Amino acid sequence: MAEQNGLRDRLEAIRDEIRQSVRGMDSSKAAYDLRKSFLDSKKGKIGQLMKEMKNIPAEQRAEYGKSVNELKNWAQERFDELDRSLKEKEMQLRYESEKIDVTMPAVKMRPGNLHPVTLVREELIDIFAGMGFEIFEGSEVENDYYNFTALNTPQDHPARDMQDTFYLSKEFLLRTQTSSGQIHVMENSKPPIKILSPGKVFRSDDDATHSPMFSQMEGLVVDEGITLGDLKGMLDLFVQKIFGEQTTTRLRPSYFPFTEPSVEVDVSCFSCGGAGCSLCKGTGWIEVLGAGVVNRKVLENCGIDPDRYSGFAFGIGLERIAMLRYGIPNIKLLFESDIKVLKQFY
Ligand code: DAH
Repeated sequence: MAEQNGLRDRLEAIRDEIRQSVRGMDSSKAAYDLRKSFLDSKKGKIGQLMKEMKNIPAEQRAEYGKSVNELKNWAQERFDELDRSLKEKEMQLRYESEKIDVTMPAVKMRPGNLHPVTLVREELIDIFAGMGFEIFEGSEVENDYYNFTALNTPQDHPARDMQDTFYLSKEFLLRTQTSSGQIHVMENSKPPIKILSPGKVFRSDDDATHSPMFSQMEGLVVDEGITLGDLKGMLDLFVQKIFGEQTTTRLRPSYFPFTEPSVEVDVSCFSCGGAGCSLCKGTGWIEVLGAGVVNRKVLENCGIDPDRYSGFAFGIGLERIAMLRYGIPNIKLLFESDIKVLKQFY
């Protein structure tokens, strides 16, 4: 009897211990350890009671086993309950921490925009494509022949000095002008020819309006009876589209080895209308490109009969047009990739 009372007290003490420990429990990991400390078959407190069974006198064994089993079932239920409530609490916490306020204003996403030089290039291509020009993209590495010699600029020609060249070897160089594309096109096709060749060019030149890498767009028209008048007519149309209806052009005599005659093309100042301002430095005119009638020697170099065919060519600096167009004072701003600058143009 005394032994039975002793057992009951032990079991009751374990029950109390479980009740108390369960109450303050707030983590699944600790709850798991707690369950093991009672129910583990070898080391758990209840597990140990089971193991003691063999020391109990045979006549009390059934009663002992029943009581310990009851305690074990009861404990299992408590721990299961604890698990359920902890899981619920943890889910609740997760729901709260992951709560999304669908009424909150969205973070502003600024869509990207095209670089000013890209914008100018696309616009020019659009205008010239509308006049029937096709695109020819040459390569940035050229040999001496295409960049200079075939363009009537032989080895000892002083015009080579105007273009401080990056040589890759004695023969190869980074093209200094998209004019080299003219030769490739004329070598490979017969007139009528009407091409536009945009691309990067390279010169050892660096100040507020010059950069060692910049972009040009070359134009070439070759057919029977092409004159300087055709060039002027086409350029007038072009500048009106890009700088406005009132804009006109003025041709000034100039020199390029591959054109004869050669001209420098000015546009009437689109900022002051010709009255004189800081943009046109008080002259009313702004220089925008070089052009001319294709030199007979260049046609000959490409196997085109200069007595039958003639042509005009022009070369436009795209950074220069972008700077004029958008009022950008320094060419460096076009290459620094400063988002504060670039996002202003579209
Ligand atoms: N290639 C010249 C330069 O880079 C620009 C140029 C002038 C191109 C006259 C032409 C032209 O096609 O006819 O300065």
